[in-house]
Amino acid sequence: MKAIQIQEFGGPEVLQIRELPHPEPGEGEIVAAIHAASVNPTDWKTRAGQRAGGDILPWVPGCDFSGIVEAVGPGVTDFKPGDAVFGVPPQGGGGTYADTLLVDAALVARKPEGLSHVQSAAIALIGLTALVSLEDTAKIKSGETVLIQGGAGGVGGFGVQVAKHAGCTVYATCSTRNVDYVRGLGADHVIDYTREKFEDVVPPCDVVFDTVGGEVQERSFGVIKPGGRLAWIARGSEGADPPPDTVQMFRPRVDRDRAHLERIKELLDAGAVTVPEITEFPWERAGAAQELSATGHVRGKIVLRVR
Ligand SMILES: NC(=O)c1ccc[n+]([C@@H]2O[C@H](COP(=O)([O-])OP(=O)(O)OC[C@H]3O[C@@H](n4cnc5c(N)ncnc54)[C@H](OP(=O)(O)O)[C@@H]3O)[C@@H](O)[C@H]2O)c1
Repeated sequence: MKAIQIQEFGGPEVLQIRELPHPEPGEGEIVAAIHAASVNPTDWKTRAGQRAGGDILPWVPGCDFSGIVEAVGPGVTDFKPGDAVFGVPPQGGGGTYADTLLVDAALVARKPEGLSHVQSAAIALIGLTALVSLEDTAKIKSGETVLIQGGAGGVGGFGVQVAKHAGCTVYATCSTRNVDYVRGLGADHVIDYTREKFEDVVPPCDVVFDTVGGEVQERSFGVIKPGGRLAWIARGSEGADPPPDTVQMFRPRVDRDRAHLERIKELLDAGAVTVPEITEFPWERAGAAQELSATGHVRGKIVLRVR
């Protein structure tokens, strides 16, 4: 099999296509032929050495995929060769910038009907993250006011749709060029952060979902009602003041499982969510794709087409 592997941390040049041994599925595992894999910010942060220590090397990036089951291991009864699936490797893993993936069958689900592999790969990790953050962790409820920081991004854009579907009044932030896009995702009020400060226009919120981090996170405390919740997936500033004790602050634990992938499909089937805007790259250009992700201003998702 072929994979884009790094053997040292560094710039995009460390991403090299290499020939690796073809995997065999063990108990409870499947081997899938990958058709598409998405690019997530953690891919380039880890490649650049901003995450785990050197003991992960050599490492193949990639947190989600869509493809076709090639082989199943003992005990796998839900899937058979030829099934179209989408899924995620385990937390802290990787491996989807490749033409083949060995993965626990519990971390994949049947590919959403009507979506391409590119579209299915685009929604796996962002959908799972937004659902765990908003439904499981912040426990948003109908009638609540929710602010999504980063409404044009992968997770934030999915989050806008999840919160709207839950019956919340949704505020979302983005830059000028993305205002119509975020409104199209269903946000009731879109704040162009290049023109106004969200603190000046957003009413007291029950929930803020912060996908941006840094000073945006500290400023978010000012718009949360007493007893309100802040769920964050991007770090606040180093050395920032602690949150006021009137705010419940959560870092969602994004456990990966089939149930959340099935929930994504349920929301798609109900017409509650749509796929994000996708910028597609051939997987040989993973370095360029990661450089685009690292600008921090991608609208929707970047997806690598493998086949
Ligand atoms: N813990 C987890 O399990 C987990 C999982 C997934 C992601 N994450 C983390 O969550 C973060 C977001 O991930 P993602 O995949 O959604 O990233 P992404 O798709 O790259 O999103 C970037 C978005 O952020 C927006 N943005 C940048 N600065 C902003 C600001 N000041 N205010 C509002 N929006 C702003 C950009 O919109 P404009 O171009 O309009 O500025 C862009 O659309 C990353 O740090 C990622 O590592 C964590």
